[in-house]
Amino acid sequence: TAVIVENAGRKKVHRHTPNLSMAPGSTEKLVQTTLEAARDELVRGLGGLLDRAVPVKTDPGDKPSDGAVIVGTRDSSRIVRQHISADDLTSVGDDGYLIRSFFRGTQGFTVIAGNTEVGALYGTFAFLRRLQTHKSITRLDISESPRVRHRHLNNWETVRLYAGNNASGTGGLNGENGTIFNFTGTGESAGRNLPVILDRYIVAARAMASVGMNGITINLVNADNVYLTPEYIAQEAALADALRPYGIKLALSINYTAPTDPRFAPDTLTNEQLDPHGEEFRGWWNRRARLLQASIPDFTGFTVKANSEGQPGPQDFGDDHGDGANAIAAAVAPLGMKIYWRTFVYNADVDEDRLKRAYLEFGYINDERQPDGTRGRFLDNVFLQTKNGPLDFQAREPIHPMFGRMEHTNQALELQITQEYTGQDEMLCYLGPMWEEALKTDTYARDERGRLLDKRLMGHIVDGTAQGHSDTAIVGVANLGNADNLTGHHFSQANLFAFGRQSWDWTLDSADIAADWVRMTWSNRKNVVGTIVKMMMGSWEALVSYQTPFGMAHQFRSSDHYGPNPAERLARDDWSPVYYNKADSIGLGYDRSSTGSDFTAQYFPTLAARYGDIDTVPENLLMWFHHVRWDRRMRSGRIFWDELVYRYQMGVQYVTWMRLTWDSLQPSIDARRFSEVKTKLTIHEADAGDWRDTCVNYWKEFSGRDNPADNGPLS
Ligand code: GCU
Repeated sequence: TAVIVENAGRKKVHRHTPNLSMAPGSTEKLVQTTLEAARDELVRGLGGLLDRAVPVKTDPGDKPSDGAVIVGTRDSSRIVRQHISADDLTSVGDDGYLIRSFFRGTQGFTVIAGNTEVGALYGTFAFLRRLQTHKSITRLDISESPRVRHRHLNNWETVRLYAGNNASGTGGLNGENGTIFNFTGTGESAGRNLPVILDRYIVAARAMASVGMNGITINLVNADNVYLTPEYIAQEAALADALRPYGIKLALSINYTAPTDPRFAPDTLTNEQLDPHGEEFRGWWNRRARLLQASIPDFTGFTVKANSEGQPGPQDFGDDHGDGANAIAAAVAPLGMKIYWRTFVYNADVDEDRLKRAYLEFGYINDERQPDGTRGRFLDNVFLQTKNGPLDFQAREPIHPMFGRMEHTNQALELQITQEYTGQDEMLCYLGPMWEEALKTDTYARDERGRLLDKRLMGHIVDGTAQGHSDTAIVGVANLGNADNLTGHHFSQANLFAFGRQSWDWTLDSADIAADWVRMTWSNRKNVVGTIVKMMMGSWEALVSYQTPFGMAHQFRSSDHYGPNPAERLARDDWSPVYYNKADSIGLGYDRSSTGSDFTAQYFPTLAARYGDIDTVPENLLMWFHHVRWDRRMRSGRIFWDELVYRYQMGVQYVTWMRLTWDSLQPSIDARRFSEVKTKLTIHEADAGDWRDTCVNYWKEFSGRDNPADNGPLS
């Protein structure tokens, strides 16, 4: 075996504005290339997996040696030019790759090729994954390209409560060192702050690239303007240089009123100048974006949370989301940048039902006829970034009705990798099946003439094939930290992995992804793989069962979003568990059918009818749409009350089963990780029991019923 990478050498880059990672006074620096990164992955990966040193060649001579692995593009590599046609490569697009086996007599070699170096890097990772998961690496003829163009993380760097550092302080993610990237002024000793590149930044870049992610918005959506200051931009440039070889481009979250921040003096605007139609506002954003581009040539754009949860936005000044998004988009369009404008808005004046509000604020802008006769007011470089469900990353939500309804607008899907509402870093909860369920849900979308679309799963809407969009995006909310596994809980790492795989190809089976991950993370032994995959595959459904079964929503205590507090009543109605559960002597759940808020009417007719009728709505979504009588007969034959209690109990029992099952794996798992997961599972089981007991006891006050006899006593 040898690794052959021609022309991978470092390259010199010129920067108009030198950044901190360059030598003082210089405008040039040598940077790592993507092919070097691919070569290093192969050397490290093959060396580790085969347990011997693997030689690297830059000149293959006339024929590649037996077992050689060649990586490159048609530009970089003579062997690729000789073996892979330009047409074949063109068909996989910018980020895709081909992996092919070639034989000469008894000698064989493998060519990994992309149109771009990044494509070749993705192919390299895919090849290593095959080897690591014990799939065949001979007679390969693989052709892969992503279904979605922008596969980004939104790194919520300062969300300390969630997924990694919960209220009890036991979390391993953000720990006392803060989040993954250290900026000057964030509290660490100077020598460990950017522009110093810590190993873990490269570990994160490799992890992301290994599953095809190609961008990261590095700061929280509740954005701090400091990220737009020259001091920070210089540090961001150093970070961008370090991530670039892995194909990962930077973006920032911004605050709509940043131009008024005195930190930008003398370049500041007054409130009156924040007119999205005026030159001042657009000019300001254009100047700021040019400043970023001068230091980060491939800077991709801005994520914006506006008029949401106290963040400022265009509505504060009498303008709407279309005006605001388009103003910033127009300002950055000449620079090739994009705006990811979030639709997570729920202004209480819009409607009594929080779930209806986003579509009411955005839908009409999509529908609006334009002077040129086309429809949709949002500019082409605007993505509306929408969470998978209409509330807020709850463990199971119906799909957001905006998917399919916004056909004249680019839409990005936002998923939450960090487990804010799904057990944080304490509970083992594999989210692949949840995303698969959402992406494979039939929207029953119709065209303007009312005909059902052929391709209309949520995934088809998101990947653009349903409604003819070529610019497409999936965004994963993450909270990367400094734990070895980047995510705190060993099993949370699986969610980062799955997000990458599913954003590349949403049609994948989440069980297959889990199996790959288990093989790469724990063991290739058949019984271990089978057992852990089984644990993972039921873990999300179990969590739904003991937290919010049958479509119950948002019963979290407000202090940490981890534990239950169904009785909580907060200043804002729509933050209060009681607003969602609507518990009374008749039953439980929120009537959103035509007899209630009529939220169901926002879906296409087939779904609207299905969800709007208590007899046809899937039981796992029941209380999202209906107030369910305690004595309603469920499909199992039991009455709702009995079934509800039973479901809570089943969820907890699954966790008990996971704990016992994990114990049985002890001989196959290294001691440290075995005991770390074991400890988490013990906490998980207790906390799942707390959810069951707290909720069931509270519902009892309304139902007036006791535990059904066949469930035995609750703890
Ligand atoms: C959740 C979360 C907030 C976050 C918000 C968002 O509500 O609790 O911290 O800011 O989502 O998506 O903007």
